[in-house]
Amino acid sequence: MSDFTSEFWHYWVAGVTLISILACFFLLWYSGKVDVKSNEGNSTGHVWDEDMTELNNPLPKWWVYMFVITLLFGLIYALLYPMLGKFPGLLNWTSAGQYQAEKEANLAEVAPKFAAFSQMPVEQLARDPAALQIGESLFMNNCAVCHAVDARGSLTFPNLTDGDWLWGGDPEAIKVSITQGRVAVMPPLAEAVGTPDDVTNVAHYVMSLSGAPHDSVRAAAGKANFATCIACHGAEGKGNTAMGAPNLTDDVWLHGFGVDAVVRSINMGIMNVMPPQNVLLSEDQIHVLTAYVWAKSNPAPN
Ligand code: HEC
Ligand code: HEC
Repeated sequence: MSDFTSEFWHYWVAGVTLISILACFFLLWYSGKVDVKSNEGNSTGHVWDEDMTELNNPLPKWWVYMFVITLLFGLIYALLYPMLGKFPGLLNWTSAGQYQAEKEANLAEVAPKFAAFSQMPVEQLARDPAALQIGESLFMNNCAVCHAVDARGSLTFPNLTDGDWLWGGDPEAIKVSITQGRVAVMPPLAEAVGTPDDVTNVAHYVMSLSGAPHDSVRAAAGKANFATCIACHGAEGKGNTAMGAPNLTDDVWLHGFGVDAVVRSINMGIMNVMPPQNVLLSEDQIHVLTAYVWAKSNPAPN
C-alpha cells in the first residue's frame, strides 16, 4: 500500500495526476476552438528549403480520437487501480494481494502431494524421489544461503551431510532443529580457566583429544583445567546434543581448526544461531525437508 508521510503528499500526487489529465482535455478542446490567423492559402508563413510550406490544417480526426481514448484510458485506470495518492482504487488491487493470491493458489495445487507425504515416516520419505526433489528445491530456497547448496556448510554453518550432529541426527532431532531453530551458547571462559597460559594449555589438550598436532607437555598441563569444560562437552570431550556442545574428539571443526581457534573460542565464547523456520515454512514442508536432510547422511543402501 502507499505509505505517505503526510496528507500533503497524498493530495499532491492525486492532484498533479488528475490536473495533468484534465489539462490535456482542455488543451485539445481549446486548440480546436481558437481560430489561428493564417496567411493566404492556409499557410503559417513558414517556408523551408525554398518551397516547403507549413500549413495550418486542423489535427486529423483519427489523431484526436486516439488522444481522447488515451486520456479516457488514463482516467479509468486511475479510478480502478491505486494511482491517485492513497486512494486504493475501485478494484482494491495491490501487488501484495496478487502475490498472496498466487501463493495460495500454488499451495492449494501442491497440498494433495504434501498431504500424502505427511502420512509417510521420514525414513520412508527419504527414499521417495518425488519428495526428495521437492525437498531439494525447498532447501535451495531456504537453507542453501547458510548451509551451502551441497549442504556441506562452511565456517560456523554446520555440514549436514557428515553424520556429525550438534543437536542429534535422528529424524525427530533434525525436525526440531529446523522447526524451532537452535541457539548454541558457550560463554567466554578465560577467567574460569585461569591465566592466558592456562588457556593455551587447555587448547593443546583439546587438540590432543582428536589426535591433532599439539604440544604434549602443554596438553598434559591443560588436562586438569578441562574440568571447566566437561559440564557441556562431557568428561571425555565427546559433546552433548542436549545443549549443542560439539564433540571435540573428532576432526570436525565448526569454528576453526588449531590451537589459536580454540583459544579464541575460550576467550570470546561462541554464540551460534539457527533461525526458526516455522515462520517461513509449513509443517508439511518441514517434514519433507527433514527427510531431505536425513537422507544426506543416511543414503539408500544399494
Ligand atoms: C541464517 C542461516 C541459516 C539458515 C537460513 C538455516 N540454517 Fe540451519 N543452522 C544454521 C546454524 C548457524 C546452525 C548451527 C547452530 C549451532 O551452532 O548449534 C544450524 C543448524 C542446523 C541443524 C542442526 C545441525 C546439527 O548438527 O545438529 C539443522 C538440521 C539445520 N540447521 C537445518 C537447516 C535447514 C533444513 C534449513 C532450511 C530450512 C536451515 N537449516 C536454514 C544456520 C542456518
Ligand atoms: C556452557 C556450555 C559450554 C562450556 C562450559 C564450554 N563449551 Fe565449548 N562449546 C559449547 C557449545 C554450545 C559450542 C558449540 C557452538 C556451536 O554449536 O556453534 C561449543 C564449541 C566449542 C568449540 C568449537 C568446536 C568446533 O567444532 O569448532 C571448542 C573448541 C570448545 N567449545 C572448547 C571448549 C573448551 C576448551 C571449554 C572449557 C574451557 C568449553 N568449550 C566450555 C558449550 C560449552
